[in-house]
Amino acid sequence: MAVDDQRLTALQVMQDAPVIPVIVLHDVAHAVPMARALVAGGIRMLEVTLRTAQALACMEAIARDVPEAVLGAGTVRNPADAKAAAAAGARFAVSPGYTSAVGQACRDLGLPLLPGVATGSEIMMAQEDGLSELKFFPALQAGGTAMLKAWSGPFGDVRFCPTGGVSPSNAAEFLALPNVVCVGGSWLVPADALAQGDWARITQLAREAAGLPRG
Ligand code: 3PG
Repeated sequence: MAVDDQRLTALQVMQDAPVIPVIVLHDVAHAVPMARALVAGGIRMLEVTLRTAQALACMEAIARDVPEAVLGAGTVRNPADAKAAAAAGARFAVSPGYTSAVGQACRDLGLPLLPGVATGSEIMMAQEDGLSELKFFPALQAGGTAMLKAWSGPFGDVRFCPTGGVSPSNAAEFLALPNVVCVGGSWLVPADALAQGDWARITQLAREAAGLPRG
């Protein structure tokens, strides 16, 4: 897939690499070297969370200076978040839960959305709105691989990105499941690596994540 593909889909976002990094940035100066470090390691779908005062400025910097990355916004909780993320250059959105309002806003903005679900009812609501590529959040806390196996029966047409408690020690177990396309996790961008400007470490973590086997 070309990264300038305007018709990006949620499935393409999930298929690009085994791991979508969940990124928390407090300093705009970190944004571009961090994004370049991930891309150098083979990870280009980047979820920058809307959790800090600097998040939108960080997203603008990445969108402007790292065209090889495909910038996404995480922690999108309402239509205003989705609009701000799109204006800052985000090309996909990830939410911790699902509301039809967020789904509609992302559709209107042309932003593929990976909405978070943790129950069968939430999956059904997302599916009613046409969404079948979903984030399972918080994955470990809400039932882990056992929950995904249970869902594979009634929700056999849904593909998941488990996120929350996923780490290098359990990622392969999630990725081996047929209804898991990729996982999400914050371990690729540790706060201390950002503070130290240790971009080589982030590239190495990305390289290891990009090499994880998928089922
Ligand atoms: C989050 O939203 O913070 C993600 O779920 C990341 O969780 P993790 O830190 O357990 O990877």
